[in-house]
Amino acid sequence: MTLSILSVASEAVPLVKTGGLADVVGALPEALAPHGAAMTTLLPGYPAVTATLGKKHKVLHTWDSLLGEPARLLAGKIGAHPLLILDAPGLFAREGGPYVDATGRDWPDNWKRFAAFGRAAADIAGGAVKSLSFDAIHAHDWQAGMALAYQRFAPFSGDGAGAQLPSVITIHNMAFQGHYGADLFPALGLPPQAMAIDGIEYHGGISFLKAGLAAASRITTVSPTYAREIREPGFGMGLEGLIRAREGEVSGIVNGIDPAVWNPASDPALKASYTARALAKRAANKRALEAEFGLEKGDGPLFIVISRLTWQKGMDVLLEAADHLVGIGGRLALLGSGDAALESGFHAAAARHPGRIGVRIGYDEALSHRMLGGGDAILVPSRFEPCGLTQLYGLAYGCVPVVSRTGGLADTVIDANLAARQAGVATGVQFDGVRWQTLADALTRTVQLYRDPAAWRSLQRAGMGADFTWTGSGEAYADLYKSLTVTR
Ligand code: ADP
Ligand code: GLC
Repeated sequence: MTLSILSVASEAVPLVKTGGLADVVGALPEALAPHGAAMTTLLPGYPAVTATLGKKHKVLHTWDSLLGEPARLLAGKIGAHPLLILDAPGLFAREGGPYVDATGRDWPDNWKRFAAFGRAAADIAGGAVKSLSFDAIHAHDWQAGMALAYQRFAPFSGDGAGAQLPSVITIHNMAFQGHYGADLFPALGLPPQAMAIDGIEYHGGISFLKAGLAAASRITTVSPTYAREIREPGFGMGLEGLIRAREGEVSGIVNGIDPAVWNPASDPALKASYTARALAKRAANKRALEAEFGLEKGDGPLFIVISRLTWQKGMDVLLEAADHLVGIGGRLALLGSGDAALESGFHAAAARHPGRIGVRIGYDEALSHRMLGGGDAILVPSRFEPCGLTQLYGLAYGCVPVVSRTGGLADTVIDANLAARQAGVATGVQFDGVRWQTLADALTRTVQLYRDPAAWRSLQRAGMGADFTWTGSGEAYADLYKSLTVTR
């Protein structure tokens, strides 16, 4: 029997993306299909999403008032899989990002936008649309948390149906929780008992993520190590108590990457394609990358960074270590955007080290492929990292990951310590604690490894041989849904 799953998320590749969440939500339907689960994705109707609809799209449902806003449910496609679009122009049809306006400020009505999104999801899950029925609901991050709270406290009750579906919530990042003031509570349309410590209440206010975590049948996050880390205050960010209380229902399923998109043997963005057996071909990509970033040739490694420039990603520490990186013979090509101070800091580092550090501020998917195909090592010095995708791309491309030992970075990279090197299984360099000294040591160790061509090739080949496609994780999610639905 095929299970029918409603996936509720605020972004999905290829329609709208601000980070790895979109990659994962976009990949899940395809990852699950071979394992007996058919996934339908519900997205907000941002302009980029409704623009993909043809003229003759189907209207599946209408709401006169979804938290005061008229809305429609439209049927679309994401790849080969069904897509539901919540078309509520008053909430989502505006220029700017999914969460912030053109100046980078949070939309002031985000609470309403994602509460309405949750209300709609709960209605769909509860049978509001006759042509749609689901066995389970899978919510992602705080933006979808309210779907599970509405299901729990105010389920759709069209003709007395109102059944609650089994539910999963996946935490992609505990740092974003959707906190609002208690004064908004009356506008949410929930019964008074929802505003309780085991409901949506959080330190006197409201937390959309907590609302979802408290209501879900199961909680997952995107790596086993992060699933353990969020039991502690530094990582749980205030929700560690809830995670500990629900410990037996929390698990980590590591993200995969799509081999059709991330494969150096067939990547159209690369000057030269290559496999693990023909690594010498990478040289042409490296030369092109050096030219693109205005870098001089050198006999040390070419480090790359593809990242949001934020505190989470340890970019401030990398900036401090930039002089050391150059001093030991490394070069750096950085692509990213984020905090203004970090953007200007990296521009200044590039100005200090012309020909050694090159910086591109912005978002550029094709360039990210070219960097992976030509760079020697990818730096991911995150303070916390629920999973991380760029180190997985690095592994697939023979661009050796240099990572902090946290979250998914700890789970997906094997450090080049003596034992791992002797066994031929090392795939990268890991370091503990994100500080100048630990990062500087890791950079030095990477340069030493790079200067031993046989050792370096062994790291590249072992990484390229590792399987971080979706096969195993798709099955793990399917098994989770099955475990929830058989007991009903
Ligand atoms: P996070 O979601 O925390 O930002 P992930 O590593 O899970 O981290 O996912 C980030 C995704 O965004 C990856 O697909 C990465 O390649 C991409 N990305 C980040 N910054 C850029 C950029 N400046 N240009 C192109 N792609 C980027
Ligand atoms: C978040 C995390 C990142 C993870 C991604 C997808 O953005 O920061 O570590 O890979 O979600 O799950």
